[in-house]
Amino acid sequence: MKFFADTADIAEIRDLAATGLLDGVTTNPSLVAKSGRSSFVELIADICEVVDGPVSAEVAAIDFETMLKEGRHLAQIAPNVAVKVPLTPAGLKVCRTLANEGTMVNVTLCFSAAQAILAAKAGAAFVSPFVGRLDDIGQNGLNLIAEIVEIYNQYPAFTTEVLVASVRNPIHVVESARMGAHVATMPPAVIRSLANHPLTDKGLSQFVADWQKTGQDILSQELPKRG
Ligand code: E4P
Repeated sequence: MKFFADTADIAEIRDLAATGLLDGVTTNPSLVAKSGRSSFVELIADICEVVDGPVSAEVAAIDFETMLKEGRHLAQIAPNVAVKVPLTPAGLKVCRTLANEGTMVNVTLCFSAAQAILAAKAGAAFVSPFVGRLDDIGQNGLNLIAEIVEIYNQYPAFTTEVLVASVRNPIHVVESARMGAHVATMPPAVIRSLANHPLTDKGLSQFVADWQKTGQDILSQELPKRG
C-alpha cells in the first residue's frame, strides 16, 4: 500500500519525506487555504521538489472549460502532478481529456461505487473515496472501499488506483490495506500514529533499562577479525 500525506504544509511534507515512507501527497482547496500560502502554483512546485511520487493539485473551477484550462496549467508545474477534479459529469470529461493527453488525474469527492466505475471509465489514475465523511453521516466508509476494490478487480482493463481519502484513524488504513486498496492518503498525525503501540513503548523502556545494566557501549567495541 502506498502512503500519501494529505496536507499542504511543506514543513510536514519535508519531515515525512525524510522518513522514506512517503509515496506522494494530496492537497485540496481547504488544505491550501489552511497553509496560508499566497501562490498555489508555487506551493505545488515546492511540494514536487520534495516528493518524487504523485502530488495532487485540485482545480478550483467547476465548469468544463475552466477546469480543463486550470488542469493543463497545473500539469505543467512538474511531471509528477496529478490534477485533481471533482466527480461531476464535467469533472469526468476533464479527466478523460487530460488522461488522453498523458496527465495523471485524481477524481475526488467519490461517495459511491457507481461514481468509482465512472472514474475508471474516464481514465483516472486515482479515484478518491472519502471514508471519514461517510462515517460522519452514519454510513460505513470502509464498505465503499470494499465495493470499489471488488468491482475494479473484476476488470483488469481498469487501471485506476483506489486512493482511500478522508482517513481519520489507523483502522481506516489497516482495513483498506486488507481489502487491497492501492493508496491511503492521511493527515500527518495519522501517518505518525501508525507506529504507536503501548507494548512497543513498554518493551523498549525495559530493553533500555536492561542494556544499561550490562554497562556496555556498542560503538566502542572493536569488530572481530574473522577469516
Ligand atoms: C484528499 O484528497 C481529500 O481531499 C481529503 O482526504 C479529505 O479529507 P477530510 O474529509 O478529512 O477533509
